[in-house]
Amino acid sequence: MTTLLINIDHVATLRNARRERFPDPVVIALACERAGADGIVFHLREDRRHIKDADVRRLKQKIHSKLDFECSLASDVIDICCDVKPDLATLVPERREEITTEGGIDAIGNRKRITHTVDRLHAAGVKKVALFIDPNQDQLRAAADTGADIIELHTGDYANVVTEMESIQSLNLLADAARFAHELNLVVHAGHGLDYDNYEAFRANVPFVAEVSIGFAVIARSLLTGITVAVQEMKFLVSGPDSE
Ligand code: PXP
Repeated sequence: MTTLLINIDHVATLRNARRERFPDPVVIALACERAGADGIVFHLREDRRHIKDADVRRLKQKIHSKLDFECSLASDVIDICCDVKPDLATLVPERREEITTEGGIDAIGNRKRITHTVDRLHAAGVKKVALFIDPNQDQLRAAADTGADIIELHTGDYANVVTEMESIQSLNLLADAARFAHELNLVVHAGHGLDYDNYEAFRANVPFVAEVSIGFAVIARSLLTGITVAVQEMKFLVSGPDSE
């Protein structure tokens, strides 16, 4: 069975946009756990645009399901990850100008640096280390050489397809990559852009996926599924006790 980890970065994005204390990503993470999520993902970006250092400490304290700490290879962020010791560290590329992670890490070009980082994380007691990787055999081979335990297949290109033909091609690419990673003894995770519309075809076509990491689609949908109760509660307050 595939497990579901929920990425709560965008709860922090909303909080930070109003420079408020709420919505609190830790409170929402706990609600995700209660709703059945198998774990929580956060990305501590170098520019701290959403999740902040204090959030990381609180998530570590409060989350009892699996905690996945996404981070770049920047050594100061890796220091924090080594200190926090999440269940899983997922290494991703990071560019300051990007709106969200745009693709897999270049395991070929950064083989030495990634190997060193994977070693550091393992030595610090982080049990599992994943690399976020494009569905490409050369990248997967290089990922296996770094000593990483897991690869998270980048599904962003699949999420962006327009035509049926593009969708089939993209799913074939992901399926081949998943099989190849499995042959290399890498555990397969997947994520980026997976949503309520594209997940079914992904599940039906891509084998060996042990875990998926989904954020934006779930946080965005919670606005729709939660708005009725939120309005009803405020309406009750605004109407006052005499309205019954
Ligand atoms: N996996 C990785 C490595 C990511 O960087 C992200 C986005 O932060 C996700 C999964 C989740 O993507 P989305 O928010 O589109 O579901």
